[in-house]
This record gives sequence, C-alpha cells and structure tokens, in this order.
Amino acid sequence: MGKTISCSVFLALVYCFYLQFGTALDTITPSKSIKDPEFIVSQSGVFRLGFFSFANSSNRYVGILYNQIPVQTVAWVANRNKPLKDSSGILNISDDGNLVVLNGKTEILWSSNVTNTAPNTTTAQLLDSGNLILSNGDDGGSSLWESFEDPSNAFIETMKISTDVKKGRQVELKSWKSPSDPSDGNFSFGIEPFNIPEGIIRKNNQLYFRTGPWNGNMFLGSILMTTVYTDGFYVVADNQQQTFYMAYEYSNDSMLIYCELDFQGKFIERRWDAGKGNWINRYSSFQTDCDIYGYCGAFGICDSSKRPICSCIKGFKPRNIEEWSRGNGSSGCFRTTPLQCQRDNTNGSGGAGQGDDGFLKMMVKKVPAFPVRSSIINGD
Ligand SMILES: *[C@@H]1O[C@H](CO)[C@@H](O)[C@H](O)[C@H]1NC(C)=O
Ligand SMILES: *[C@@H]1O[C@H](CO)[C@@H](O)[C@H](O)[C@H]1NC(C)=O
Ligand SMILES: *[C@@H]1O[C@H](CO)[C@@H](O)[C@H](O)[C@H]1NC(C)=O
Ligand SMILES: *[C@@H]1O[C@H](CO)[C@@H](O)[C@H](O)[C@H]1NC(C)=O
Ligand SMILES: *[C@@H]1O[C@H](CO)[C@@H](O)[C@H](O)[C@H]1NC(C)=O
Ligand SMILES: *[C@@H]1O[C@H](CO)[C@@H](O)[C@H](O)[C@H]1NC(C)=O
Ligand SMILES: *[C@@H]1O[C@H](CO)[C@@H](O)[C@H](O)[C@H]1NC(C)=O
Ligand SMILES: *[C@@H]1O[C@H](CO)[C@@H](O)[C@H](O)[C@H]1NC(C)=O
Repeated sequence: MGKTISCSVFLALVYCFYLQFGTALDTITPSKSIKDPEFIVSQSGVFRLGFFSFANSSNRYVGILYNQIPVQTVAWVANRNKPLKDSSGILNISDDGNLVVLNGKTEILWSSNVTNTAPNTTTAQLLDSGNLILSNGDDGGSSLWESFEDPSNAFIETMKISTDVKKGRQVELKSWKSPSDPSDGNFSFGIEPFNIPEGIIRKNNQLYFRTGPWNGNMFLGSILMTTVYTDGFYVVADNQQQTFYMAYEYSNDSMLIYCELDFQGKFIERRWDAGKGNWINRYSSFQTDCDIYGYCGAFGICDSSKRPICSCIKGFKPRNIEEWSRGNGSSGCFRTTPLQCQRDNTNGSGGAGQGDDGFLKMMVKKVPAFPVRSSIINGD
C-alpha cells in the first residue's frame, strides 16, 4: 500500500513538473526549440539530441549521440550535407510542422520534409532506443517521420534496414565521406530480397558486397559472420507483401552493440568495452579484397593468400590478359574448350558426356545471388 501511495505522490510531482514546464525533457514542440549548445535527452538518458562538432573542425551538426559513454559516438545526423558554420544553429518545429535545422539567418539547412496537417500539435520525441519521432499528439498514432527511417551511417539496436518492393521504399545506411565528414559518401547498405534476402553494400550504386543469403540463423557466405556475431540479428521476410527487413536485439541489456557502414564501405560491428573505455570491433565485412563482389570476375577464383590473388578455375583463361596482369581481374575468365555435354544417342552411350566435362568441387564460396530454397533444406 505504502508503495502505491509514494508512487502516486511521485507521479503527481512529475505531473506538476510537466505542467510547469509544459513539455518533457526528451521532446521538442512548436513552443520549445533548442539552440546551440542546448540538447534534449531521452527519458532514461541513453541518447541525446543536440549540436556537436568533430575534432579539428568548426562545422556544427545536429545529431543523436550516445549520452552515457565517454567517446563521442554519433547515431544519426540531421544536417549532414549542410553543416552549420558557427554556433548560431536552432532545432525547431517550423510553422508547417516540420522539424528543421536553421542557421543564424533562419535559413533552413535541413528539414524532415513531410506534409503535416496539424502543425500546432506536432512534437519530436527522442526515445531511449535512439529513435527520434515526429508526430501529432501523444495518441501513439502513426508518426510523420522517424530518424530510424532516415538513417545516417549507423545501425543501432531495434532499427530496421528494410525494403518494401511494392512501395518502392528502402531504408538504407549511407556512408560518410570521412570519419569527420558525415556528408553522403560512396556506399550504402541495405537488404535485397533476391530469392532469399541478404545484406548488400553498394558502391556508387554498383554491387560491392553481399552477405550471402539468410538461412534463418546467419548469412551464409560470410566466413566470419558465424552465429557468434549474428546472435541477436534477424531477418523478417514477408514474401506476400514483398516487405523485408533486418534488425538486431540483444537480450543482454548490459551489452552495447553499435554497427556502422564506414566511409570505406566496411560494415563494422562494435561492442562497447567499459573496461577499456572504448568500442571494440567484433566483426568487419571486409577482410581482404576477395570480399569485394566480383573482384576476380565470372569463373575467377579469389585467394588472398596468393599473388596475384585472382586466378581462373580449371579449364578457363583470363578474358583480358592485359588487365589481368595489371591486377584487375574484374573481367573474369572464359571457358577454353566448349562444353560437350549435349545428349549423344547415336553412340548409344545413354546420354553421358564426352571429353573432360564434369563437376569441380569448390570450397569457401558464396552461393550465387539467385538460390532457390528447396523443401528438403527447409524441411521439418
Ligand atoms: C587534430 O589535430 C591534431 C593536431 O594537428 C592531430 O594531432 C589530431 O590527430 C587531429 N585529430 C583528428 C581526429 O583528426
Ligand atoms: C521556429 O522557426 C520559425 C520559422 O519556421 C520561427 O518563426 C520561430 O520563431 C522559431 N521558433 C523559435 C522558438 O525559435
Ligand atoms: C525536401 O524534399 C524535396 C523534394 O522531395 C527535396 O528536393 C529537398 O532536397 C528536400 N529537402 C531537405 C531539406 O531534405
Ligand atoms: C495554430 O496556431 C496558430 C498560431 O498560434 C493559430 O493562429 C491557429 O489557429 C492554430 N491552429 C489550430 C488548428 O489550432
Ligand atoms: C568515392 O568515389 C569517388 C569517385 O569515384 C572517389 O574519388 C573517392 O575517393 C571515393 N571515396 C571513398 C572514400 O572511397
Ligand atoms: C552481458 O554483457 C556483459 C558486458 O558485455 C558481460 O560482462 C556479461 O557476461 C554478459 N552476460 C551474459 C549473461 O552473457
Ligand atoms: C578493371 O577492368 C574493368 C573492365 O574490365 C574496368 O571497367 C575497370 O575500370 C578496371 N578497374 C581498374 C581499377 O582499372
Ligand atoms: C560416336 O563415337 C565415335 C567414336 O567414339 C565418334 O567417332 C563419333 O563422332 C561419335 N558420333 C557422334 C554423333 O558424336
């Protein structure tokens, strides 16, 4: 009973506090903006939203940062392509109901860019997940905009990297130009349905890295991405609705994981090490050049322990010997003698092939991007 009463008293106090100040400390409203160097903090203090700079730069950005670790770690950036040049910035809900970053001349450097029919009741709330949600009222109705759906280079717990084929909508990570320049870089990371969904990195819109297909437990084909690293990762595929997403959640609340698509196109998973006071790399999508999609081209073999690292499989030769000798294997290899496996009835050999045709066992290879799931593999 005593517990209930003290709880009510506490809630009443909190309520008074809210009445007095009008809003929670994790929320921006039309009447409560923040200006550099102010910030708001999510309810339990996990993340903050405010102004920051990178070392050795006077550029100012509005972003979401981890609030409880001593190393500046940016989970999201608003005005990544248009930095503030001084500390006169304002983060505001504008008259049209958008979240906007303004400079001292009230020029809009970034906007959530949505159509909002009820701008007076609009709030932007920073959640403990690190998601910033722009919505009308607290009715838990649909959000107008979320930072989780407009990511920068970071993939954090409970965020969804998604593809909606019917709506033609993708939520992808976008690499930065450099570790201290968050403007759009060359790489993106998304989920590609193919026949079986997998993670994909693109470089200037060209396929650059594949995780290999998701088998329900892990991505097949990433040597280091064993279940140790994908523990907590999951892929949800709705083939009917043509929606696909990947996310991760750890049951161990004291384990802090942070994934990033870095400026060189590596997908990196880091774990916070409180003892060392820093992030420790757990997984990187890039170990050698052989991780680059098509590095040795069609019918090529990539072996990072050999020089040159590209060679052709048995019975094949480089398509472009000049490029190949310069270390560029991307044009791949061609078959030196045509296949002779057509049916041969006249000689009564029952359709067996002639010549050296046969199957070659190849290990440590990704399956192609168009595998078809078999009911035998599926079967339980
Ligand atoms: C900032 O500049 C100092 C001095 O030039 C340099 O030692 C340091 O590495 C730089 N820091 C970053 C993050 O670039
Ligand atoms: C927010 O921005 C609007 C312009 O869109 C401006 O009229 C208003 O005064 C700003 N509010 C604050 C509190 O700065
Ligand atoms: C808002 O959307 C328009 C058109 O969709 C686009 O051209 C513009 O760059 C966007 N503005 C911002 C600040 O994102
Ligand atoms: C929104 O706010 C403006 C200015 O405070 C007011 O003139 C207008 O009537 C309000 N609109 C609604 C729908 O409450
Ligand atoms: C991005 O691509 C451009 C043009 O292809 C290139 O000049 C630049 O070095 C690339 N940057 C990175 C970080 O790969
Ligand atoms: C949870 O994570 C912490 C920090 O990484 C670790 O010390 C602890 O052993 C983990 N607990 C379990 C049950 O795995
Ligand atoms: C490698 O060769 C391909 C064509 O076979 C060409 O498009 C590409 O630019 C070359 N790459 C380099 C780094 O020279
Ligand atoms: C049948 O076999 C003989 C001898 O092996 C060969 O000379 C002949 O060309 C074959 N016929 C066909 C149609 O492949």
